[in-house]
Amino acid sequence: MKASVTRLSREQARELLVKLDAAMAGSKGRASREAIVKFLNTIPSYSWVGIYVVEGKDLVLDAWSGPAATEHTRIPIGKGVCGFAAKAGRTEIVSDVSKDPRYLQCFLSTKSEIVVPISNQGGVLGEIDVDGDQLDAFSSLDREFLEAVARKASGVWA
Ligand code: SME
Repeated sequence: MKASVTRLSREQARELLVKLDAAMAGSKGRASREAIVKFLNTIPSYSWVGIYVVEGKDLVLDAWSGPAATEHTRIPIGKGVCGFAAKAGRTEIVSDVSKDPRYLQCFLSTKSEIVVPISNQGGVLGEIDVDGDQLDAFSSLDREFLEAVARKASGVWA
């Protein structure tokens, strides 16, 4: 692990989950997803945050927060790190995007990425995509934290 990476601590993750409930403020559907991306983007290591929703065979960008828009607003399931995670129904952590052939580039500044599916009993509804500007920005703690966030998103999906 690089010393320069300011990763999430367990204590911060616990506090953030409590604060997220307040940030979501009983919202549902797209409004809840807007609240989630805005909230997650305040975490220093989370440079860009988006939520994609499954629409047929594609992932469609529904809400995002970050310094710039991405050109990847529609990604076929199976393509990119995003499409791979949706197809597998499993969290993907890429510690160095330059070494992952699946990676679809959005921002030159991105060095690492985590993609966490949002699911219910019926399958994958969408996913949370977070880009980091540092190598190896995401750990198993971010996975646990974002999987808890994904459960909250799933609970107020429609
Ligand atoms: N990097 C993603 C595409 C989405 S952008 O990061 C916003 C991928 O490889 O699927």
